[in-house]
Amino acid sequence: KKDLKGQLLEINRQAAKYFFYQLKSERGTIAYEYLTNRKLSDETISKFGLGYSNKYSNDLYQYLKQLGYSDEILKQSGLVSIDETKGAYDKFWNRVMFPIMDVNNRVIGFGGRVMGEGEPKYLNSPETLLFDKSRNLYGLNVARTSRKHNMLICEGYMDVIALHQAGFNNAVASLGTAFTGLQANLLKRYTSEVLLTYDSDGAGTKAALRAIPILKEAGLSIKVINMQPYKDPDEFIKALGADEFQKRIDEAQNSFYFEIEVLERDYDLNDPEQKTKFFNEVAKKLLVFTEEIERNNYIEAMDRKYHVGFDNLRKLVNHYGATL
Ligand code: UTP
Ligand code: MN
Ligand code: MN
Ligand code: MN
Ligand code: MN
Repeated sequence: KKDLKGQLLEINRQAAKYFFYQLKSERGTIAYEYLTNRKLSDETISKFGLGYSNKYSNDLYQYLKQLGYSDEILKQSGLVSIDETKGAYDKFWNRVMFPIMDVNNRVIGFGGRVMGEGEPKYLNSPETLLFDKSRNLYGLNVARTSRKHNMLICEGYMDVIALHQAGFNNAVASLGTAFTGLQANLLKRYTSEVLLTYDSDGAGTKAALRAIPILKEAGLSIKVINMQPYKDPDEFIKALGADEFQKRIDEAQNSFYFEIEVLERDYDLNDPEQKTKFFNEVAKKLLVFTEEIERNNYIEAMDRKYHVGFDNLRKLVNHYGATL
């Protein structure tokens, strides 16, 4: 008899197969058309094992029961809820299904997207014995085999899939939560450089700013891709194509410059008082560089950009922290 984890993995694998089969069936037409409208090819759908969960049903529950699984273990899979009065029902209804795999290609959970508008836009598996959002990355099972020297970190399932379809087979996404140290360490096993391609809206910028120190802590070199005027990699690629995205990769900005650029938005540099405050903040940020040459190089870069004067800025940095 298999252990609990083994059985849960088996249930997820069966569920993924079931969802995939549903997508290809008559009932899944609406989901298949949704994905086709979003420009996903059959090959991509198969590669990522996308599927469909039926409308208002407990079809998955019935299917898994018939395979011999007990109510008890099905509850633990997070795929069904069993209610004393209402009975058993599937967690995912009428959604496009994204199986989430660990680095060893084992299905550990699912994300399900509503077709069109609706709340929540994405429903994810609850945390289970198998599924811990904070220590997995969507797409890493494929990206780890990429021969590119870096990895692209984006926000969403659809971003990862669109990027892979466009030939960027090094894309991964965190699973709808803030990027964690565990995820950074996981990435570090496969690469030394990451390119952030978070959404270009306020939430995406914030998420990028929060991820940078975590990635840095893991010893990764970080660049940030500018996706303007598009919202995310999926939309960018749909509008401009892979070659333009590659250009954005080539032009990716050092994460320090990105942080400074975001900081600059809060200040009116035509106002001497605000400009002074801004340089004080820049000086504090420069303290992250703990090697003299590196720190000086960045001070020099800030001088080139803002004409603050190398010595002026260096004095200010020394004022806030230890002289190197
Ligand atoms: P976004 O809102 O940016 O969605 O969420 P998206 O990936 O661009 O999706 P599309 O293109 O509209 O289909 C980014 C990621 O955040 C998580 C999901 O992982 C999603 O891919 N998320 C988002 C959730 O977990 N729940 C939500 O309700 C919304
Ligand atoms: Mn977003
Ligand atoms: Mn999107
Ligand atoms: Mn998005
Ligand atoms: Mn100058």
